[in-house]
Amino acid sequence: MKVALIVLLTLLVVFPVYGEEDLRSFTLVLTWPNGFCRVNPNCYRPVPQDFTLHGFWPVWRNGSNAEFCPSNTRLRLENQGDITSLSQHWPSLCGLEELGHKNQREANFDFWKYQWNKHGTCSNLDPLVYFHTALRLKNEINLLNALRLSMSAIKKQTGYRPVVKCTKLSGRGLVLEIHLCVDLPTPQFPIYRLVSCTNQRSIDCHGDGTNIYLSAQNRYQALVTWT
Ligand SMILES: *[C@@H]1O[C@H](CO)[C@@H](O)[C@H](O)[C@H]1NC(C)=O
Repeated sequence: MKVALIVLLTLLVVFPVYGEEDLRSFTLVLTWPNGFCRVNPNCYRPVPQDFTLHGFWPVWRNGSNAEFCPSNTRLRLENQGDITSLSQHWPSLCGLEELGHKNQREANFDFWKYQWNKHGTCSNLDPLVYFHTALRLKNEINLLNALRLSMSAIKKQTGYRPVVKCTKLSGRGLVLEIHLCVDLPTPQFPIYRLVSCTNQRSIDCHGDGTNIYLSAQNRYQALVTWT
């Protein structure tokens, strides 16, 4: 993937008051737009038919999400920057009217800015590395293909057990988000890498015991087996 996909300028970098050792892992959160747009009717149209990024969230050692760390690093989007890849994989799915955005570009940037301020500031990464790492991890797996086959295929295809968040639809679960667990770099594996999630249960996906929905309109096979 292109490294020069975004140009994010760092105005001021202040060394954080916490260290890498305070973090345990990251969660890569992917949105399933069919589910998101069911819950948020004003969402982006046409509804993307593939996963989009929601966020890349650092987790403290004690298991809670690391949020809103003190930082003077501000995101700035250069006019000429190539943001194609980020716009494609990490779009704001909120409708433009909802937050008063003039265009999708502005909505996207506000979304990235929010994610950076809330989560990125605790990541110990500079913005370019932070966003690039999330895109790389998303692109490492083809979740859409895996999901078309079956939920258990996510683990089979990717090798990693995800946490799945659903919203209730006619008593069943419609997929809303997939949370993938990411380990910090270590001397042996010096990159951020996907791992199986442990000790976390999927949320609201067990409406009728075995099946969850991918779509309300049967765009893909409506039911997939949950194992
Ligand atoms: C978890 O750890 C962080 C950072 O050390 C701390 O700020 C937070 O209060 C802790 N949360 C809980 C629930 O203990």
